[in-house]
Amino acid sequence: MIKKCLFPAAGYGTRFLPATKAMPKEMLPIVNKPLIQYGVEEALEAGLHEIAVVTGRNKRAIEDHFDISYEMEQQIQGTDKEQYLTGVRNLITQCSFSYTRQIEMKGLGHAILTGRTLIGDEAFAVVLADDLCINPEGDGVLQQMIKLYNQFRCSIVAIQEVPMEDTAKYGVIAGEMIREDIYRVHSMVEKPQPEDAPSNLAIIGRYILTPDIFDLIASTEPGKGGEIQITDALMKQAQQGCVMAYKFKGQRFDCGSVEGYIDATNYCYENLYQEGQ
Ligand code: G1P
Repeated sequence: MIKKCLFPAAGYGTRFLPATKAMPKEMLPIVNKPLIQYGVEEALEAGLHEIAVVTGRNKRAIEDHFDISYEMEQQIQGTDKEQYLTGVRNLITQCSFSYTRQIEMKGLGHAILTGRTLIGDEAFAVVLADDLCINPEGDGVLQQMIKLYNQFRCSIVAIQEVPMEDTAKYGVIAGEMIREDIYRVHSMVEKPQPEDAPSNLAIIGRYILTPDIFDLIASTEPGKGGEIQITDALMKQAQQGCVMAYKFKGQRFDCGSVEGYIDATNYCYENLYQEGQ
């Protein structure tokens, strides 16, 4: 059974400067809730109670958010403001949080490898908090993926069809369709130009990884952008064994871009926001 969810959260968030100069990008709010809290809620909904976070310099606010703030909480005790903390208190009660720091920014693959010490030798989920995924109609995306993992017992990446001209923003897969929404991955390329892309099926920031991925990352040379790419390690895993790609149900907002962030904010305000959540 999968219990752990890893949040790589060491990146600088340069696309959101100056907002991210002294504040982690994962703490940017969508309406009144930081991005990473949406991710942890999704993990908990999927039954993952052990939250592992790979942080870096300037990320202390994440640890403080998932902790008690005695002075402030005492101040609002017994007032109608207390309700604003119910959601995050619920997470703190139900989840455990552990942290490790990535000292050098050497790519997503390297960040995930840094988390090995928190994960150990078991399958785990990965959430990239700036991909906000919402499925108003049913199970969250991680929950959908956990169900598939229980069936296939191999690594799974979430995918979405994107316009061909956008392939250079994503890891892109190609594979054999085994169900309308599931592919067995044959090839994977990190951020290909449209003319080199094997398809328009883009990887979105949700993964289920089996623990053999760690040794595969450790032996992966720097790839696109001189960084150690999880996509390259997954490609090796697909060649040696099996990796599935899953077209999830729900909406995804790229909150790493200003446009996606604004869309997410409007969507959440109109559809999800209730005062006091
Ligand atoms: C990362 C991955 C990429 C994936 C994307 C999803 O890229 O390297 O394969 O498609 O996340 O958001 P990043 O957006 O961190 O550059």
